[in-house]
Amino acid sequence: MKKTIAILAGDGIGPEVMQQTLRVLDQIAAQFQHQFTYMPALVGGAAYVAHGEHCPDSTIAVCQRADAVLFGSVGGPVHEQHLPQWQNCETNSILCLRKHFCFNINLRPVRIYPSLAALSPLRSAVIGEHTDIALFRELCGDIYFGKHQQYQDAQGRVASDEAIYHADQISVIAHAAFQAAQHRRQHVISVDKANVLATSKLWREVVEEVSRDYPQIKLSHMLVDNCAMQLILNPQQFDVILTPNLFGDILSDLAAALPGSLGLIPSASFSANGLALYEPAGGSAPELAGKNVANPIAQLLSMAMLLRYSFGLHQEANQVEQAIAATIAEGFRTADIAGNGPAVSTTAFTDAVLNSL
Ligand code: IPM
Ligand code: MG
Repeated sequence: MKKTIAILAGDGIGPEVMQQTLRVLDQIAAQFQHQFTYMPALVGGAAYVAHGEHCPDSTIAVCQRADAVLFGSVGGPVHEQHLPQWQNCETNSILCLRKHFCFNINLRPVRIYPSLAALSPLRSAVIGEHTDIALFRELCGDIYFGKHQQYQDAQGRVASDEAIYHADQISVIAHAAFQAAQHRRQHVISVDKANVLATSKLWREVVEEVSRDYPQIKLSHMLVDNCAMQLILNPQQFDVILTPNLFGDILSDLAAALPGSLGLIPSASFSANGLALYEPAGGSAPELAGKNVANPIAQLLSMAMLLRYSFGLHQEANQVEQAIAATIAEGFRTADIAGNGPAVSTTAFTDAVLNSL
């Protein structure tokens, strides 16, 4: 198979975990006789330094020409946030790509590696070994893309943010969630705040309508505040979570905390026209950058998702995932998942993954 991949490594630990991920991808290509062409492009603070913009047109053009986009992470250190390079860096970079390519389906899988269960902030009896959640977050509507305003009225300063949902936006993500549930435990939990919000009432209506196409899938509705509580009290009850944009932002961070490190969670964003972007759920961790200590797992798993969902290379994706699981089972740990035990470097961890491939 011949494919081109846009490589947007970004800032912080992005470039180093990306470099390690491409070593693994190279080995997969060699083993299965694929030809992957990497097209690097700048994004985030790195793009700002070179082009004065966090998401330059040249980067958009590279993504446009690619068969898939592998994204690292963007953003700068806390003490440098006042520099123009870092101001609104995450928002400018990520929202711009989401909007331009209309990546409206976001999938964030949360799984527990049995040998890492003790890392979870939840007691082992609660987190279990079987917590396995596919969180589907709508990514192009809601309060994110409505009008944001600050103004002055007779009483003083005012701000407002507009939340808008079109029925067809809801229907697209709902279909994605129900289809995923068919290959899983057949249960969709749709999250909303239908006791208060108009957008949530429409959300619930449309999700009900879509569910009629999937009679074998169980659908439950959960209010977002209760969902946050349930994710802590009993995460094993969740199979597929279907959520609007803002609630999904919050719940996906909550869910990502369950396995014990953000360094373990990949994500994928799909658009209707077929292009998709894959990125670790965690941030650029500037304090770890350049030290060869970051956990490459989230980036590696993002690459595996790319192989599976953009290229249909299921066996290759499974092999990457199994090699990571085997490496963990053998006892290799980067610092974030080492607890009080010994930690290996980013490159040493990747060497072990390559070995078990
Ligand atoms: C995420 C991030 C983004 C979001 C930010 C950086 C705009 O938190 O991908 O979850 O809110 O969607
Ligand atoms: Mg977020």
